[in-house]
Amino acid sequence: MSNELPDLLRLFSEELGYKVRRIKSVLGYDVFSIDLSSWKLRLTSSTPVIWVKRDDLESGSPRHMMDSIADVIRELNLSRKIVLVTVDGDALTHYRTRTHLVHSLVLIGAEEQKRVLSSRRPTGELLDIISGQIPIANLSPYETRAPVTGSRFFGREYEITRILSNPDTNHAVLGIRRIGKTSLLREIERILKEEQDPAHVVYLECSDLLSSDDYIREVVRKLNPRELPRLHMQKYVFFFPDFLERMSRAHKNKLIFLLDEIDNLVIVQRGDWDLIRMLRASANKGACQYIMAGFREAMREQYMLDSPFYNFAQEIRLSEFTRQQARELITIPMENLRVRIRNKDEVVNRIFEETAGHPNLIQYYCLILLRRLDQMGEREITPDSLIDVYSDEGFKSHLLTSFMQNTENREKALVYAILQCCEDISGQGFTQEFIDDSLRSGGIALPQDDIDEACNVLLLAGVLRRKNQEFYFTSPVFTRVLQQTYDLNYLFRKVMDEGI
Ligand SMILES: Nc1ncnc2c1ncn2[C@@H]1O[C@H](COP(=O)(O)OP(=O)(O)OP(=O)(O)O)[C@@H](O)[C@H]1O
Ligand SMILES: [Mg+2]
Repeated sequence: MSNELPDLLRLFSEELGYKVRRIKSVLGYDVFSIDLSSWKLRLTSSTPVIWVKRDDLESGSPRHMMDSIADVIRELNLSRKIVLVTVDGDALTHYRTRTHLVHSLVLIGAEEQKRVLSSRRPTGELLDIISGQIPIANLSPYETRAPVTGSRFFGREYEITRILSNPDTNHAVLGIRRIGKTSLLREIERILKEEQDPAHVVYLECSDLLSSDDYIREVVRKLNPRELPRLHMQKYVFFFPDFLERMSRAHKNKLIFLLDEIDNLVIVQRGDWDLIRMLRASANKGACQYIMAGFREAMREQYMLDSPFYNFAQEIRLSEFTRQQARELITIPMENLRVRIRNKDEVVNRIFEETAGHPNLIQYYCLILLRRLDQMGEREITPDSLIDVYSDEGFKSHLLTSFMQNTENREKALVYAILQCCEDISGQGFTQEFIDDSLRSGGIALPQDDIDEACNVLLLAGVLRRKNQEFYFTSPVFTRVLQQTYDLNYLFRKVMDEGI
């Protein structure tokens, strides 16, 4: 592979300071990567660029060339990425034969390259070319199904600083389902690995590790698999603490463990806590730092003074986005996608209120808006566009699924009882006495402590908020969708049958 760069990449690398790397030559094409993560779109820190030279164009038909590009993409496993192709000639005929790559391939022909090179706003010009070829919903950073990091990670500045600037403290990131625990852990992992030698940073998803043995085996496998056979020969209480200290010495660094989904581990540890005691000892000796994430079970332990979990880690409670964070998540990608938002404050406030600031719902909301723009070929959002979202089946079901995942039967019963007693509750406050009366009219009498605990979970889950003595439903859309979609009387009886 020669040292040459396509003109476009030379401009971005040498004059504009973008990070460009050569990857390799595949099927005769030079392949590069460029870091476009600062655009805060789906384009990552290693956006691939394939260089099609004049000679390549002359050697076959447009169809053949596209087949061959498709092979390069397959070979380098890039099918889930947006791929840029600089073509030193006419790209239009090739553009028409993009076929199945139509949602992920951007062809930048000689004409277009010239336009970027001679522009006084080359970044903007390139972005225009990209957003002209890829549906903006695909180009946007919005992701509703998987954890997000890097260019797609927003907000949480306070939590990140707190964790990174306290390397001698263990942290427990606690929060409801889909609030962003994994994303935060993965983002911290990414930053740590970028700053330091990556070998001593270990991310473990713990939901399937159902015993101390499982946990220890997984850690040994990640840090030094050659020692796995020793696990059978030595009792782990002797082997494991020594292993962690040796590994930390070998890396000349504290080992940093990011333990996601620790709830199951907490459940199996209850009663003997051997493993947790061992982790705590390794942290006290300075060999390890633990950053954990969990939901109900981990939270329960944090409140119990006699639990070994208590005092092991400092709690970081992950809650909904602030209005400002929501604003960034909504407006930055939209601006980069050249989508105009009319009455920006009103649009942001409405989305913030209707989603109660829940990052996943905001993302879902924005994605629906962008899909609509793609369908209509429009590039403007107004307060009127927002109304459509209520009727979107996907949004409704997403909203309801979040509620179902975050609550247990008792909390559900409480919500159904209140909504049954009051047709239009939006904006109205209600007391615990009202909640108690609603439950009683459904035939349940709960002790005060139970009502209190259920209210706390609902506050935490962002379903309710509290002002002095009164509670309010956070999102008017949520209550309306629940009332319109379900027979609440039936749901109430159902959770009663299942047991509360
Ligand atoms: N920092 C963030 N920036 C942007 N979006 C976010 C952020 N955190 C979470 N999200 C949104 O929320 C979704 C869920 O995030 P994530 O998987 O990290 O949550 P979680 O708390 O680990 O969920 P679970 O409890 O189901 O494991 C993401 O797909 C994304 O839409
Ligand atoms: Mg998670």
